[in-house]
Amino acid sequence: MGDMERLLTGIQSSGQLHIGNYFGALKPFLDLYPNYESYLMVADYHAVTSLRDPNALRQNILDVVKDYLAVGVDPSKATIFQQSQVQEHAELAWIFDCLVTVSFLELGHAYKDKVAKGLEANAGLMTYPMLMAADILLYDTDVVPVGEDQRQHIEYAREAAAKFNNAYGETFKEPKEMIQKGIAVIPGTDGKKMSKSYGNTIPLFGTKDEIAKAVMSIVTDSSGESPENVYAIHELFRDRDSLGELYKANKGKYKNLKEALIEDIETLVAPMRAKRDSISDDDVRRVLKEGSDKARAYASAKMADVRQKIGVGL
Ligand code: ADP
Ligand code: TRP
Repeated sequence: MGDMERLLTGIQSSGQLHIGNYFGALKPFLDLYPNYESYLMVADYHAVTSLRDPNALRQNILDVVKDYLAVGVDPSKATIFQQSQVQEHAELAWIFDCLVTVSFLELGHAYKDKVAKGLEANAGLMTYPMLMAADILLYDTDVVPVGEDQRQHIEYAREAAAKFNNAYGETFKEPKEMIQKGIAVIPGTDGKKMSKSYGNTIPLFGTKDEIAKAVMSIVTDSSGESPENVYAIHELFRDRDSLGELYKANKGKYKNLKEALIEDIETLVAPMRAKRDSISDDDVRRVLKEGSDKARAYASAKMADVRQKIGVGL
């Protein structure tokens, strides 16, 4: 265990998950995390930059953990914890804020994009990358699995580590981003990238009826013999050979093919849906309490060293 590399990632609630999220992000994470000493953190203080509804925030925290447990993350193999419950994150973020310039933070893509979209530019939005740097650096993290959109944030974390090490002596490890390459873009019911912003999703934890409705709405091109958009999604659930046979036997019979796809999706998601339904809010609270206690033990030892180094530890 002690020799394993350390992995940390942060999750923000992203609403109802769809099968694009599952194949593009969750499944690759499931294959990866047991090979590391893994930390999975709910970024609830990051959410406060844009969410001011306490009930919604509470619900999101519970939901996102349920999603991860339901797809198969094992809390005995990863430390699943809540950012706000380890106060060292906010504390270290403050120290990093004092080491970087405002103009450096203003160059952050996420900040620039949000401001460009007319969202309120609160100071938390601008210093967001320094809280994220604290999340990562407190645990001597080696690798950070994230989507391409987070690449710059990992660069900022390295910059924070370098700035601190430079000012106070070697303390933080510079982390590496791990961005999954070659993961296909999963198409939605209209053939474009499946995305919650396009309303073209097949929900991961939907009821069978909801899944069936989404599959039946897949746009088919009546010119060909094989419905390309159906096939492109079906490929995720079956190997080429058995898919080839199925599509050959059902040439032109789009309805049959869609029904077969519904059954194949159901085979994968039914057990996950049942698992999700069986997880109570209290189960989540227990998992997060245990994980947060474990994370805090590590983070507080690290912060004790940091306080000594900067001169507030007397
Ligand atoms: P959405 O586009 O629905 O808003 P997010 O941006 O919240 O999805 O994506 C969360 C994760 O799921 C990211 O890591 C992203 O790469 C992955 N993902 C989202 N949609 C797809 C898709 N259609 N195909 C593959 N991966 C996807
Ligand atoms: N900013 C990340 C996102 O929006 C979430 C996040 C917060 C994170 N802290 C992190 C990701 C630390 C990786 C490591 O997806």
